[in-house]
Amino acid sequence: MIKSFKLNDGVEIPGIGLGTWQSSKEDAYNATLSALKNGYRLIDTALAYQNEDAVGKAIKDSLIPREEIFVTTKLPAQYKSYDEAIKYANESLANLGLDYIDLYLIHAPWPWSEVGKDCEKENIEVWKAFIDLKKEGKVRSIGVSNFRPSNIKNIVDATGVVPSVNQIRFFIGNTQEEVTKYCQDNNILVEAYSPLGTGEILNASELDNVAKKYNKSKAQICIRYCIERNTLPLPKSVHEERIIANLDVDFKIDQGDIDYLSTLTIGSRRPLRS
Ligand SMILES: NC(=O)c1ccc[n+]([C@@H]2O[C@H](COP(=O)([O-])OP(=O)(O)OC[C@H]3O[C@@H](n4cnc5c(N)ncnc54)[C@H](OP(=O)(O)O)[C@@H]3O)[C@@H](O)[C@H]2O)c1
Repeated sequence: MIKSFKLNDGVEIPGIGLGTWQSSKEDAYNATLSALKNGYRLIDTALAYQNEDAVGKAIKDSLIPREEIFVTTKLPAQYKSYDEAIKYANESLANLGLDYIDLYLIHAPWPWSEVGKDCEKENIEVWKAFIDLKKEGKVRSIGVSNFRPSNIKNIVDATGVVPSVNQIRFFIGNTQEEVTKYCQDNNILVEAYSPLGTGEILNASELDNVAKKYNKSKAQICIRYCIERNTLPLPKSVHEERIIANLDVDFKIDQGDIDYLSTLTIGSRRPLRS
């Protein structure tokens, strides 16, 4: 059993979740159903993934009580006004067929077509909408994704409300130490997206010896590494055997091996993607 986290607003979140980026509706439905059947209780989607309806249907069809499942979705990065944040939160709720979202994230501090653009003023407006959505009970927890410390300070200084989560690209060889440390020092949970480097780091020979030592697959080493670093991994797969294996990570990696893995620079340093 992978230990859950308590967010800074008191809400409990499972310690690992299924990712659904680049999953077609059919794949997202089958993967979500399979994940829930095999013990996952956290599903990560986004309006931009165009599969919220499939995820919602799988949740219903699983017959697992709603309150036992934790659903994360995200406001598309290009929507940067108060009214759009409310509108698209409601659209996500309708797509999912749910009364509430467990965790709602600002997908990125800038539109994907303008990475790095200064949207600080707009992010404050969006964050105010998120605060109101939480007050209304439409979402249980609120957070951000792909935010730098300066982006976080901006919305906190303006509203006094600290995000519960920052979901960032985090995997062996790409651990964004400055952002990770800032979040962990400030009681903001780091969710590790692309914990397998979107599949790219699974060929890295640097992981061979560690995988052999623990008698685990390289994917399992990558996922467990995130857990050992106190982050919440969101591995994505559409294959049941991998979905099952990716949850089978209840083992310990020695600190010496964590230190070794933390020195690696594998995986591409390509720009952030959603
Ligand atoms: N907030 C953001 O901006 C953001 C950005 C990126 C991702 N995310 C979230 O994080 C999730 C995970 O990231 P990701 O989708 O980039 O990729 P990932 O989980 O790092 O890797 C997924 C890739 O690895 C393969 N794979 C999965 N398990 C495997 C295993 N046990 N053995 C071999 N190959 C395996 C998958 O193939 P199959 O599916 O064919 O098995 C897929 O090609 C996303 O789905 C999304 O929910 C968020």
